[in-house]
Amino acid sequence: MPQMLTKRELLQHLRMAECATRAVAPLLLRWAGRPLRVVTKRSAIDLVTEVDHRAERTIERLLRRAYPTYGFFGEETGRRDAGAVYQWYVDPIDGTTNFVHGLPMFCTSIALVHRGEPLLGVIYHPTRDELFTAVRGGGSFLNGHRCRVSRTRRLASSLFSTGFPSEFRRAPRKFLKPFVAFQLATHAVRRTGSAALNLAYVACGRLDGVWEEKIWPWDIAAALLLVREAGGRATTFTGRPLRLTDDHILATNGRVHAAALTVLRRARRR
Ligand code: IPD
Ligand code: CA
Repeated sequence: MPQMLTKRELLQHLRMAECATRAVAPLLLRWAGRPLRVVTKRSAIDLVTEVDHRAERTIERLLRRAYPTYGFFGEETGRRDAGAVYQWYVDPIDGTTNFVHGLPMFCTSIALVHRGEPLLGVIYHPTRDELFTAVRGGGSFLNGHRCRVSRTRRLASSLFSTGFPSEFRRAPRKFLKPFVAFQLATHAVRRTGSAALNLAYVACGRLDGVWEEKIWPWDIAAALLLVREAGGRATTFTGRPLRLTDDHILATNGRVHAAALTVLRRARRR
């Protein structure tokens, strides 16, 4: 059984993950909005391109070269070495629909996970050159500066974001009910098109909260740690602390969490 990583080792791993996100940034910047072969996955609105695949292969190669015994769980290639104690969770492009259309809201997300718990997370947003990082117990950072969740106390004064899943067309009303309820209860609801950026923005106080259904571990592994380390709260819709295996999330600055849970509960009951 490998020893737990020391703080120093974790920081070395963080640097490696940072390098891997930056290594694929030129590829993403070069191809965003350019004609690419777009393939659909789970539904007609779940897109993937050859750039997603290329970026994931590059990240895997870099991480495996540095840490050959670790597992790898990528959105496009699935889980390998599932028995490994340390696992990399990778989304090469979160916000692929934006990427395809040339809307500059997409990022690369990498987390190191140990027994279901993220130990470190890196999210790189190349079009803004913004690097979000967190190490468990060490706080959250944006471009090297400590970041914290917002101080907003009232839901009525808050700004939220959400995303719609690839299943949206199968049950549009189900996903729109909370959207309408939050739009009525807050200053506004935004949609960035990237679950990882939504959550990173909660961590740095640009958003007060995010809810999202049908999310995947690679969407949230890095961002979940960012939110927690920035002083925020992430739960299921019943208020239980979030696990990476959960398929939905409510993440807030903590102060508006109870009120947001009430909005969600009422909207979903209707
Ligand atoms: C998607 C985005 C989107 C969210 C979806 C995700 P992808 O990830 O994060 O905002 O609503 O649930 O699957 O496909 O762009 O990596
Ligand atoms: Ca993706």
